[in-house]
Amino acid sequence: MITTRQLYNSSHSKILSIYPDPEAQQLVFWLLEHFLGLSRADIIRDKAITEVPEALYLALKDLESGKPIQYILGLAPFYGREFKVSPEVLIPRNETEELVHLIIQENQQPNLKILDIGTGSGCIPISLSLEMPQSEVQALDISTDALAIAKDNASRLNAKINFYQADILNDEIPAKDLDILVSNPPYVRDLEKSMMRSNVLDHEPNLALFVRDDDPLIFYRTIAQKGLKALKPGGKLYFEINEALGEEMIELVKEMGYLEVSIHKDLHGKDRMLSATKR
Ligand SMILES: C[S@@+](CC[C@H](N)C(=O)[O-])C[C@H]1O[C@@H](n2cnc3c(N)ncnc32)[C@H](O)[C@@H]1O
Repeated sequence: MITTRQLYNSSHSKILSIYPDPEAQQLVFWLLEHFLGLSRADIIRDKAITEVPEALYLALKDLESGKPIQYILGLAPFYGREFKVSPEVLIPRNETEELVHLIIQENQQPNLKILDIGTGSGCIPISLSLEMPQSEVQALDISTDALAIAKDNASRLNAKINFYQADILNDEIPAKDLDILVSNPPYVRDLEKSMMRSNVLDHEPNLALFVRDDDPLIFYRTIAQKGLKALKPGGKLYFEINEALGEEMIELVKEMGYLEVSIHKDLHGKDRMLSATKR
């Protein structure tokens, strides 16, 4: 027989070598809730547990090996909903929730036509479609594996999205008269790899993360350029950006003739989002 506190403490000490507190504590709370339905109150009350599922021990082993908890559970929270994730898709990030929030706040009118480029798990278009119910939302990705996950998420969450497979660096945008073009494209420079934690580097898809050092803005330049044709006049472009490249991004988008170019900071005060309007 083991109690909830004993299980919490033994699980916590197992992963402390990989994750510092308070992250380690949060992860253990998350696991105990997922596998045993235990709340924090249950853990504090020190209830007896009759059986600990084997899956919890396997999950702890995976965590010790550096696998992100979202891939272990196959789920990630995003803007109030749970998205299915697998190692073929990027784990949705908090900054991207802020991008979604910005788009919703700035675009309250009905019947908007929206396209998301590099959709991964589908977290952006699905959230926008559900929060802006009269919009018509499309999304594309180069990866058929990512698209399969995105389609699954859309059907589980009851969002009506048209998904396409396309390589944005080589294919044309399969849409016109867009009101909103949004993208969180790959933007981490190879030179930034050394600053990243191994649980990101070893587990998340390279295709979703990295760009070459000699042309880090390739996706932004291509999408903004193609956006000039795909957006309607007055249509809006939204990017999640590399915090180190805000100035370059403003210049790039202004040079193409976009108006009202603004950088938006995330909760931590970092330059993380860009919005602009097509003339
Ligand atoms: C940074 S991830 C963003 C995923 C998701 N939108 C999110 O915010 O969590 C970039 C996505 O772009 C896709 N991608 C990479 N190269 C691409 C290309 N040439 N054309 C279209 N999509 C591409 C990747 O497969 C990946 O899903």
